Amino acid sequence: MTERVNFDGPVILGAGLAGLTAALAAGKALVLSPTPLATGCSSAWAQGGMAAALAADDTPALHAADTIAAGAGLCDPNAVALLTTEGPQAVRDLAALGAPFDRKAGGDFVLSLEAAHAKARVARVGGDGAGAAIMAAVVAAVRATPTIEVRETARARRLLQDKTGRVVGVLAEIDGALVEIRSHSVILATGGVGGLYAVTTTPAQVRGEGLGLTALAGATIADPEFVQFHPTAIDIGRDPAPLATEALRGEGSILRNTDGKAFMADYHPAKELAPRDVVARAIHAERAAGRGAFLDATTALGAHFPHEFPAVFEACQSAGIDPRREMIPVVPAVHYHMGGVATDLDGRASLPGLYAAGECASTGVQGANRLASNSLLEAAVFGARAGHAAAAEGVQGGEPVSLEPLPDLPVATLQVLRKAMSRDAGVIRDEAGLTRLLAQIDALEPAYGPCPPLVAARLIIDAALARRESRGGHYRSDFPATAQPVRTFVTLTSADAAVRYAAE
Ligand code: SIN
Repeated sequence: MTERVNFDGPVILGAGLAGLTAALAAGKALVLSPTPLATGCSSAWAQGGMAAALAADDTPALHAADTIAAGAGLCDPNAVALLTTEGPQAVRDLAALGAPFDRKAGGDFVLSLEAAHAKARVARVGGDGAGAAIMAAVVAAVRATPTIEVRETARARRLLQDKTGRVVGVLAEIDGALVEIRSHSVILATGGVGGLYAVTTTPAQVRGEGLGLTALAGATIADPEFVQFHPTAIDIGRDPAPLATEALRGEGSILRNTDGKAFMADYHPAKELAPRDVVARAIHAERAAGRGAFLDATTALGAHFPHEFPAVFEACQSAGIDPRREMIPVVPAVHYHMGGVATDLDGRASLPGLYAAGECASTGVQGANRLASNSLLEAAVFGARAGHAAAAEGVQGGEPVSLEPLPDLPVATLQVLRKAMSRDAGVIRDEAGLTRLLAQIDALEPAYGPCPPLVAARLIIDAALARRESRGGHYRSDFPATAQPVRTFVTLTSADAAVRYAAE
C-alpha cells in the first residue's frame, strides 16, 4: 500500500540552486532530491559564476541589453528587467549566506568577462568553482533551517492532480517505495535535459523528467526546441563531459584546429568571444571537416592555469593533458535548456498549484539563447520569487484522480535515445534528421508508454521540426535564415501527442 503524507507547505522537486533558494524563501518546505544535496545538480557543476551589474561602470540596463541581444528576439523584456535589477542583490544575498566570492583587496567582487557580455560582470569563486561553493553555502543554510525537510534519493513519479486539474501533490519514489505526498503547492526545480543527449556537461540524471511529467499533467511548455550547446566541453570520452569554462576564452585562450590554425576569425569578428551558438557551430564544423578543435591556454594562462582554473586543470590532468603546455581537445555539449515549463514572474505555471523555477522553467529571461552565467542568477532570483508565491498558496485541492506512477525508460533504451538526439537534434538540425528521430520515438512509445524522458524528447523534436528558421541555439541547415520572432507554447492536451497518451 502506498504511504500517504500531508505536508503543510510547498513540496519542491529538485535541490539545485533554484529549488533550495525556493525552500529558503518559503521558510517551510519539503525538498525531494534524487541525490544527496549538492551532488547531481547542474548548479553545483557551474564553473563561470553569476552575472550581475556589480561593477561601478555597469548597470542593470546594460546587463539587460546583453541578455536580450543573446536571446535573439525571444526574451520577455519584463522578466529580463526583473532579473538584471534584482541580480546584484541576489549575489550579495548569497555572499551573506557564506558564498565566498572572489574579492579584490578593497572588497569589491572580482568580475570575469564572458562571451557576449559588454562588461566584465561574472562574480566568480576560486576561478572556476562558483557552483560548488555557492551550493555549499545554500545547503548549509537549508540544513540549518528546521522547517525545511529534505528527503534524499527521492524522485517524482507523477504530479498528483484533482479532477479540476489543480496540482495537489506528488507521487514520489523515496528509497524505492512510493509515497503519496499531498500539499497545497508543488515547485518544480528539476533542471534541464542534458541527459537526453549523448554529449552533455550536466549530470546524467538530469534528463527532462520534470519537463515530461509536467507536460503530461497538461502544463504549458514554452520553447522546448531551444537547447544550448556549450562550445567547449573537454573531449576526453567522459560522460558527462567536463566543462572548460568560457572564462578561459575571456582570459584570452584561443581555439585552434589540429594544424594549429586559430579558426574563429573565419566564423565571426568577435572570434573566441562570439555568441555561444556561433562558437559551438564553428567547433562542430571544424570537427566535422576532420580538422579537430582544441582550446589553447598555453600562452594566455600557462603556469597560472592550476590556481586560476583548478577544476578544469584537474579534469585535464585526469586524462593526462597538461593545459599549461598542451591544447585541450574540445567538443560542443548540451549545457542548458532555454525552454521549459512556462511561468509568470512569480514562477506560477499554467496549472493551479504548480510552480517552476530554474532551468526547468521558462520565465522568458533566456530567450532563444541564454547569456553566459545568467543561469545561477535566474535560479536565485526566480527561485526566491517562486518560493514566496508558493508558500502563500491558500487553496487545498481535491482528491487526486490517479496514483499510478508514470513508466520508466530502461537505461539501454535511454542510451539509444541519447545517441539519436545528439545526431539528429543537435548543434545542426534539418528536416530529414528530425523526422528520422521522430520515427524512432514513435517506435519506442508503444513499448514504453508515456515515459517522461521520451515525452521531453518528443517536445524538443516536434518544436524543432515546426520552427522552420534558425535562431539562437536552434540552427536548421535547411532553414538558415531568421524569420519573425515567435515563441513556441505547447500543451500536450492540445498537441498530437495527447492522442497518443490519452488512453493511459
Ligand atoms: C561557463 O563557465 O562557461 C558556463 C557558464 C554558463 O553556462 O553560464
